[in-house]
Amino acid sequence: MPNETEIQEINIHNRMSFIDRKILIMSGKGGVGKSTVTVNLANALLKKGYTVGVLDTDIHGPNIAKMFGCEGAILQSNELGTSMIPVSPRAGLKIVSLSFALSDPDQAIIFRGPMKLSVIKQFLADVEWGTLDYLLIDSPPGTGDEQLAVCQSVPDLTGAIVVTTPQQVAVLDARKSLNFARQLDVEVLGLVENMSYLICPDCGKHIPVFGTDGGKNLCVEQNIPFLGGIPMELGLQQDEDLGVNWIEKNPESESAKAFMAIADHIHSTVKFKHTPYVPKFDSCSPSACASCTADCSSRKS
Ligand SMILES: Nc1ncnc2c1ncn2[C@@H]1O[C@H](COP(=O)(O)OP(=O)(O)OP(=O)(O)O)[C@@H](O)[C@H]1O
Ligand SMILES: [Mg+2]
Repeated sequence: MPNETEIQEINIHNRMSFIDRKILIMSGKGGVGKSTVTVNLANALLKKGYTVGVLDTDIHGPNIAKMFGCEGAILQSNELGTSMIPVSPRAGLKIVSLSFALSDPDQAIIFRGPMKLSVIKQFLADVEWGTLDYLLIDSPPGTGDEQLAVCQSVPDLTGAIVVTTPQQVAVLDARKSLNFARQLDVEVLGLVENMSYLICPDCGKHIPVFGTDGGKNLCVEQNIPFLGGIPMELGLQQDEDLGVNWIEKNPESESAKAFMAIADHIHSTVKFKHTPYVPKFDSCSPSACASCTADCSSRKS
């Protein structure tokens, strides 16, 4: 008979099997644009007609809700109280963040590693993600509990996208993310160089605020795909604060075009697989069936 942990594992496998591509967005250094890449890549994929889930695993500093303009939304449960309904501000988009479970947005979350693992597993097992083309998983900086939880808990994790700026200190930390992914056998789908240059709002000149080609050179050195460079644009950060969809509002901007090109590249090159889940036990108990989503013979009978 399965115990609670095994039921959770079944539920994670079952829910994740309906999602084609599950991608972790990570960086070594903070503030380089992981959440910006997550949100804009999601918007680019939505614009192309794909369905997208976004899981915010930045437990201590969740920004995703604000950037999608749905701060203050609350995670609801289904009628039976057995699963959570993701927040869906637009057709095709489903978002889950711990911030949807907080009554006060200023509340500090004081969680140790095992609690973070537990929350992330609950979001994978108990959320009604449904059928999706993509699940983009935003993470805090570094290679800590959250990234480990995702890499070890998401079955058939398609891979990781590493974000950096061209600055050497960011590139140095990006190397750590690449090594982390390799150590855990997670495929590196490629690297995004954010803030590649600032576009002067007066003359349009490209100003290399954080240096030039740091991310691009790292890709050559590490033999990984360079997914593209995103310029710094005045107004982007303001629109993120307001939850405005930058790509829809500024489709002709260099950054919007770069995000659309990255979405194209990912969709055409990234392959996915679904490995059938083989439970480690023979039969289930009726009580276990109540909270299990597996399409197994015990459940049908
Ligand atoms: N290309 C860009 N042009 C202009 N502003 C940007 C760009 N990319 C990111 N920003 C701004 O830089 C700041 C940091 O970006 P973001 O929050 O996406 O980084 P992060 O890596 O997710 O940070 P953290 O490590 O704290 O999670 C934000 O204020 C964001 O609006
Ligand atoms: Mg972030």
